[in-house]
Amino acid sequence: MKNLWYKDAIIYSLDVETFMDVNGNGIGDFIGLTKRLNHLAGLGVTCLWLLPFYPSPNRDNGYDIMDYYNVDPRLGTLGDFVEFMHQARDRGIRLIIDLVVNHTSNQHPWFQSARSDKNSKYRDYYVWTDNPPKDAQDKVAFPGVQESIWEYDEQAGAYYLHRFYKEQPDLNTANPEVREEIRKIMGFWLELGVSGFRIDAAPFLIEPLGMENAKREELHNLLSDMREFVSERRGDGVLLAEANVSPDQIPLYFGDGDRMNMLFNFLLNQYIFLALAREQAAPIIEGLKTLPDTPHTGQWVNFLRHHDELTLDGLTKDEQQEIFAAFAPDETMQIYGHGIRRRLAPMLGGDRHRLELAYSLLFSLPGTPLLRYGDEIGMGDDLSLEGRTSVRTPMQWSNTQNGGFSTAPQDALTRPVISEGEYGYQQVNATTEQRDPNSLLNWMERVIRIRQQCPELGRGKWCILETDEPSVFAHCCEWEGNTVLTVHNLAKQPCTVTLKLKDFKPKHLMELFANRQYEPFDGNSSSIEVDAYGYRWFRSDSVL
Ligand code: NOJ
Repeated sequence: MKNLWYKDAIIYSLDVETFMDVNGNGIGDFIGLTKRLNHLAGLGVTCLWLLPFYPSPNRDNGYDIMDYYNVDPRLGTLGDFVEFMHQARDRGIRLIIDLVVNHTSNQHPWFQSARSDKNSKYRDYYVWTDNPPKDAQDKVAFPGVQESIWEYDEQAGAYYLHRFYKEQPDLNTANPEVREEIRKIMGFWLELGVSGFRIDAAPFLIEPLGMENAKREELHNLLSDMREFVSERRGDGVLLAEANVSPDQIPLYFGDGDRMNMLFNFLLNQYIFLALAREQAAPIIEGLKTLPDTPHTGQWVNFLRHHDELTLDGLTKDEQQEIFAAFAPDETMQIYGHGIRRRLAPMLGGDRHRLELAYSLLFSLPGTPLLRYGDEIGMGDDLSLEGRTSVRTPMQWSNTQNGGFSTAPQDALTRPVISEGEYGYQQVNATTEQRDPNSLLNWMERVIRIRQQCPELGRGKWCILETDEPSVFAHCCEWEGNTVLTVHNLAKQPCTVTLKLKDFKPKHLMELFANRQYEPFDGNSSSIEVDAYGYRWFRSDSVL
């Protein structure tokens, strides 16, 4: 039988640098993360995704790697990493790490050698041209910050390709030697016990842009090669790809179940925000209907926010404007023309009801949920920081100095801790919330516990239930003869909703979780009451 552990996982992403500093130098470290594993285990997290922690000049928050086989000395040592792995495994927590092989840092020895010597074997590790195409500006990943995707290098006497910052030259993934390097990197970390990789910038990895003679088909096969390698080395190893692509492109990434195990659900993410902005269920329904089927081993990873901008590039300009108007009205909250650089709590005006609604949706949608550090306590953002850094401030552990993140002087911190206003660490922190039975943190622990009891949501066949209320999203998931049914009211008005199901009687529903205790059903009415921004989860007789 296949080990599909990731279908039951609760994934939590964090950046070691901003999580917990133990040695007091102002920068988070692996020893700090290890000390905080009990917080994560208590929350119910079963899988961590660590952002890049490798040696890096940090032009792109560690996504510019200088050495794939080491730990950034600012964050600790390989020894600290192994100790952390051991402690995580003891608590039943798996680890997925970022595999950033679309590009290296320009400080990587491969690039240094490639640029300084035309005959170096590393020259062909990168993508060069003497004449960059004219449309190079149109393809930049960071509009307004990056001018082109081709940069002239004096030393090399040629232009090199860089889909992201110019300090991140793209690797030539058509070169078999580069592919061998990718396998070696994966093999190294698998040997140290990781359960898999988050594949950074997957679409660019397999696009033949600038690669003379590269065959599209062969490039696509890189995804199968990687999967085969991971499976051979570790039967339960997984690949989770970052591929924000149109629905017709999705099958390329899942293959016939022989490529990626998981994809981030960028499409549904954008539709969820449209639904939250309109207070209507239709966009979520449209999003779900647009998703292509996944193979049996394939899984969506649902999320609300992550460490980048909330990208809305899959929506129309008008839809983007609706979301901006609702959640990011000020231009300083927006980025790259179609993105939002805010955390969820401030986007929803700190409204606890709406936050619960959004997370209840996240945990109940078909797929595997991803939570980001700080979201469990409702952390805010710091718009005075540049670009995407606004949502990358240190974790707020307590109401003591620097929010308990570090004992370093304030000006030595890797990034400022949010210390003012509604989201300051004095109010929003893990310790205070731990003590308060009504806190968001304790609610989050509860929703995760309930979710763990509903494997139907991660593994089951799902269907959307028609209702007579446009603001209500109702769906159910069935697996091995059991069904979970959930109802979410996206509007600020309470309502009583009727599910349009033949032979359906609410008396068959057993309430599992809700925004409050509702009156038990008397079995005579087929309607379900839901509060403003309310939600209810039920186990039911099969309705599929
Ligand atoms: C996606 C990462 O999430 C983002 O933070 C980074 O800038 C790019 N890939 C480039 O690695």
